[in-house]
Amino acid sequence: DPVAAATRNTLRFAAIDRSRDDVVLPDGYTYDLVARWGDSLFTGTPDIDMAMLAEGGLLKSGIAEQQTRQFGQNCDAIRYFPLDSRGKRGLLCVNHEYTSDELMFASHDGFDAKKGAIRGYIEKHPQVVPVTQAAQGVSVIEIALGRDGWRLVKDSRFNRRITAHTPAEIRGPARGTSLVRTKGDPTGTRVFGTFAGCAGGETPWGTYLSAEENIQDYFGNLRRLKEMPDVDPFVIDAHRRFRMRQESAYGWDVTDPRFDLVNEPCEPFRFGWIVEIDPRDPQRPPVKRTALGRFAHEGAGTVVAKSGHVAVYMGDDDKFEHIYKFVTSGRFDKDDLAANRDLLDAGALYVARFDADGTGRWLPMVFDSRGPLNERAGFRHQGDVVIKARAAATVLGATPMDRPEDMEVNPVTGRIYVSCTNNAERTALPVTKMYAGREVEAGPDAANPRGKNPWGHIIEIHENDDDHTSLEFRWEVFILAGDPRGKLITDIKDVRPGIDRNSAYFAGYANAADLSPIGSPDNLGFDPDGNLWVVTDGPQPRNDNNGCWVCPTTGPDRGRLRQFMSGPIGAEICGCQFTPDGETFFLSIQHPGEGGSVLKPRSHWPDGPGTQPRSSVIAVRKKGGGRVGT
Ligand code: FEO
Ligand code: CA
Ligand code: CA
Ligand code: CA
Repeated sequence: DPVAAATRNTLRFAAIDRSRDDVVLPDGYTYDLVARWGDSLFTGTPDIDMAMLAEGGLLKSGIAEQQTRQFGQNCDAIRYFPLDSRGKRGLLCVNHEYTSDELMFASHDGFDAKKGAIRGYIEKHPQVVPVTQAAQGVSVIEIALGRDGWRLVKDSRFNRRITAHTPAEIRGPARGTSLVRTKGDPTGTRVFGTFAGCAGGETPWGTYLSAEENIQDYFGNLRRLKEMPDVDPFVIDAHRRFRMRQESAYGWDVTDPRFDLVNEPCEPFRFGWIVEIDPRDPQRPPVKRTALGRFAHEGAGTVVAKSGHVAVYMGDDDKFEHIYKFVTSGRFDKDDLAANRDLLDAGALYVARFDADGTGRWLPMVFDSRGPLNERAGFRHQGDVVIKARAAATVLGATPMDRPEDMEVNPVTGRIYVSCTNNAERTALPVTKMYAGREVEAGPDAANPRGKNPWGHIIEIHENDDDHTSLEFRWEVFILAGDPRGKLITDIKDVRPGIDRNSAYFAGYANAADLSPIGSPDNLGFDPDGNLWVVTDGPQPRNDNNGCWVCPTTGPDRGRLRQFMSGPIGAEICGCQFTPDGETFFLSIQHPGEGGSVLKPRSHWPDGPGTQPRSSVIAVRKKGGGRVGT
């Protein structure tokens, strides 16, 4: 294997093994606080006054308007777009996935999240909704590296907030079709805002891709919609597959009729897409690229195939959902970046089937009256296929996975990695169960071998002939997360359906003393050497806080996973993005203090004792310079 032969392990840091209420890094590393929730992007707007949270300050008038000009909450995906060749100026695109209302509003402390309670809470505090709608979406910020590290450049002409109200365009096969037409937009071409953006991606032509994920939490009133006399049963089926429900999580439907399913039954079909944003053109509206399918998008790993077509790899993060690939019809034009502007509007969408012999197939998701995705199956045209991509994947026999999160392509080897974060509904023995309105085989299979799957796993995909347009691939479990001091498997042949739930596997690496325990892998990233970086969101085998890990994917140390960073109490870690020189590593610290509240904070990161916790983007660097990790 020429790639393996050329690869030596460049990772040199001393692994960390402890958590506290802080960002913990190996000796010799430091971090800059780049942007915190509530930091203003413009001098005319103040920062959020965190000291007023306990007095209910976020319910005051004018706060929502200010939040549209401040860094949003719950930062997730980060992508860096250089503005110079010296590595000292760039743009960050950052998702603000959702809001942790209990960490924003003191009024939330009296809120009992029992059935029906969100309606009463929002009716009493309607000012919450415009604030949380403004705190979500995307930030585009300019940053610069100076003597005191990376800092936000206020008033940059690129600084921009995209919220739940920012006009966006719908393009691709769903544009204008009946399921995306609403009272607010009878043309089905213009949608208001983006939210629930989780991981993300970037295109070879320099745009940002935000992945709309848990959109089901924003809509309410499904039970009443089902009782309406003239309701389209296919609409109800689609909402059930997305686990829409009577009670929304955030109560937007209480004050904003757009989120009430009885009023706008089709509004959810306008969310759950990959959204393309041009960070260099603040005037250009975000574009929802419907050709890439509608599901709980987690990320979008893009790569230019040898043929010049662009492939996008995407996970759908729900239990028993699927892994997708999109391949553009057109070819990437590296000499005229503007010519690629609408490349993501036409192409082929595929969903993955993983077979037990280690091969797999990308199944084409094409409307065809004589094929499986036809009128009888509920699809009238390609627009319906992409809107109801989950149902189409089931018809085609795609493999239901253990919550596929981020997918990224290794820039050195071209192999593709996907995190399956965990799945408490995966069973140890073969069982058929109902989940999201349809029957699933919940027992273990070759690609999801462990039931339950408490710690998750990472799958490696190798396209046939290293061709990203290929319809066939080989795959293997790369890491079966867990505690290496438990049952450490060292031979891939022993990673089989039904294995012990306390087992762990690190690409065959056999020395348990060199390995760090890990659980719930989520966002992924690569440094310029092709090492795989993994950040986590969920339970850890030794009850530590979430953090960041890294391992080589080739050579004798393939799979030698060690912990590089640990986060504050209650936070999940997201982002996982390097500058091109490998000297800065950006991480999102999302919802530090989760599990606490404004009146009873569990974390005081990043501002220290006596302060409220706040989600922030950090830039990790080696003291004295050099590539992070080396
Ligand atoms: Fe937003 Fe699937 O993590
Ligand atoms: Ca999250
Ligand atoms: Ca995620
Ligand atoms: Ca997650």
